Amino acid sequence: MAAAGPPPAPRSRILGTGSYAPLRVVPNAELEKLVDTSDEWISSRTGIRRRHLAADGETTSDMAAAAGRRALDAAGLNVADLDLIIVGTVTPDQPIPSCAARVQTKLGAADIPAFDIAAACAGFIYGITIADQFVATGAARCVLVVGVELLSRALNWQDRSTCVLFGDGAGAVVIGPGSMARPDDPPAGKPPGILSSLIFTDGSLADALRIPAGGSARPVDAEALHARANKVHMEGQDVFRTAVKELTASSAQALKASGLMSRDIDWVVPHQANLRIISQVAQRSGFPLDKFILNLDEYGNTSSASIPIALDEGVRSGRIKPGQAVLMCALGAGISWGAAVARL
Ligand code: ACO
Repeated sequence: MAAAGPPPAPRSRILGTGSYAPLRVVPNAELEKLVDTSDEWISSRTGIRRRHLAADGETTSDMAAAAGRRALDAAGLNVADLDLIIVGTVTPDQPIPSCAARVQTKLGAADIPAFDIAAACAGFIYGITIADQFVATGAARCVLVVGVELLSRALNWQDRSTCVLFGDGAGAVVIGPGSMARPDDPPAGKPPGILSSLIFTDGSLADALRIPAGGSARPVDAEALHARANKVHMEGQDVFRTAVKELTASSAQALKASGLMSRDIDWVVPHQANLRIISQVAQRSGFPLDKFILNLDEYGNTSSASIPIALDEGVRSGRIKPGQAVLMCALGAGISWGAAVARL
């Protein structure tokens, strides 16, 4: 029997974070002019006060490339160091090609592999899970993972139950081998790395959140356009209930798989969909709300971008410090969800 020793060093780690939010800020009060809603309803039911919306002509890949450049800078790496680009998005520039292909060109990367993941709000957790596998096997050394969404162009701005919830933005991380040092690594302490990362999908719930038209099941035609079937439709309460249940369960599973205890987690960076969902997950998980990095008041739900934007803001503001452990969790269309634990 092998002698008990220290746990193996993590296979991969986050080397740098970056994010981008469009300049245009739309407060809740502005939406009162579009639909029958109020700042009071939106902020009390969701916690959202503002959202950033992309400018005319600004694309998903523009935002992704901006966040990606910032993550590379933060990691002290160049685009030539990348072996792979993974983009989590359900709002690519066009159905074909992938958004990742556009991002590769905009970053000036070589002909490295680049692909999208359509896991909606869980796209970033899916992305880092895949990146971790590539780095672990040695198939890639440095991977850019972007979560990016330009949902404002996929919303029905006459549907008050969805249009008030979402915003546009991008967040990114560079993932590299666990053995790769960073200048600000603490001199002593536990090794940084992705300690666990779990992903799930329950397709039986797929209709709870969907864009009905625009795919092979229902191409966009005049009738679909008239019915706004090419825009987001959501059964909000079904998603809400599933989110509370599965975010709580998957967070506990990721924590267990990481080998850490609740008390070892310094920060929780949840998907920023609704403050009431987050509060219920906090309560059920036993994490105090002041351990949560929250920014949904400023950005609304930016889907796959929400965790990497919040992570980047936590790091850049100095709240998340090198050596600290972060629990991340997200759920969205699919229904797909996941949770991960990483030491920065
Ligand atoms: N302003 C005013 N009233 C509204 C609004 C609005 N913007 N939206 C809905 N209402 C009304 C409804 O019409 C309803 O009125 P009624 O009682 O007269 O019928 C009332 O408010 C209550 O509606 P509910 O849907 O029960 O409101 P709820 O408290 O469930 O909040 C919400 C709705 C915010 C959508 C919530 O269900 C939610 O956050 N769900 C989860 C969304 C989510 O997490 N999505 C994540 C995935 S996103 C992705 O993957 C891309």
